[in-house]
Amino acid sequence: MVTGAASGIGLALTARLARAGVKVLMADIQGDALRHRAGELAARGADVRAETVDLTDADAVQALAETAYGTFGDIDVVCNNAGVVGPVGMPLWEVPPARMREVFEVNHWAHVHVARAFVPRLLAGGRPAHLVHTASMSAFAVGSGSAAYAASKHADLAVARSLRADLAGTPVRVSVLCPGRVDTPLVRGLAAPRDATGDTTVTAGLVAETVWDALGSDRFYLFTNADAATRLRDQFDDVRRHLTSPVHPTQETLWNASGQTPPTAPRPNPPTSGG
Ligand SMILES: NC(=O)c1ccc[n+]([C@@H]2O[C@H](COP(=O)([O-])OP(=O)(O)OC[C@H]3O[C@@H](n4cnc5c(N)ncnc54)[C@H](O)[C@@H]3O)[C@@H](O)[C@H]2O)c1
Repeated sequence: MVTGAASGIGLALTARLARAGVKVLMADIQGDALRHRAGELAARGADVRAETVDLTDADAVQALAETAYGTFGDIDVVCNNAGVVGPVGMPLWEVPPARMREVFEVNHWAHVHVARAFVPRLLAGGRPAHLVHTASMSAFAVGSGSAAYAASKHADLAVARSLRADLAGTPVRVSVLCPGRVDTPLVRGLAAPRDATGDTTVTAGLVAETVWDALGSDRFYLFTNADAATRLRDQFDDVRRHLTSPVHPTQETLWNASGQTPPTAPRPNPPTSGG
């Protein structure tokens, strides 16, 4: 089952799965485009079924799960992929809250609805299965003018990480796909948010191939762009730079263990500029 299957990464995922002979339920809100794409794939021999659904509607997602199981009997792979980019290029204080909520409705809530509808069924199946969340490098790297998108992708990463922890020891695996810029309609015509997207662009086909290779494995983080390592290192170096604490943790632990009150630690000097 692939969401956001009418376009971009979801369409490429569908095509990759279908090429391997996998039956695919394609779900998307754009009914005409979805039927058109499903028709093209079917004409090339793919066994696909198209379901038009607004994934922000929790009841509709439950109905989608019922249709999926009613159609195929069992599901092996769920690609929780649909997404929107929302307002970019605006600082947070200029983004209308309603527009930020719209982004969260899809990138966070729709992914939660899909996980809530499908994971209990995957577990009940008792067989190996794989849930793939499409987050983004924006789940780690944040540049200016990308508040709504980046915050929603941080939320999706947290959801995927909590699912990974909740599903540990079960036959259901979880991965989180974190592409940098991918050449799809989502980003065509958009100026790359400054500091946010790195400078590599990959094809949706390459992203789909990365997911295909990971299916059935324990690979949680799936990165696709060559600059991912540099961008992640920059993020975590930034975090590490702020790790200084007034009392070293081991020192604190020693004092606690001895039952004595630690001496008052000198407070660091406040920064003179910046933060
Ligand atoms: N293109 C990139 O550079 C890039 C980079 C990192 C992550 N991503 C993520 O990849 C995923 C797919 O994006 P894409 O680039 O293929 O974009 P896309 O616009 O080509 O495809 C997204 C699809 O999601 C569907 N969709 C949106 N809202 C929906 C809803 N409420 N219900 C059902 N379907 C809905 C759209 O109709 C569309 O077909 C998204 O989660 C996106 O955030 C994209």
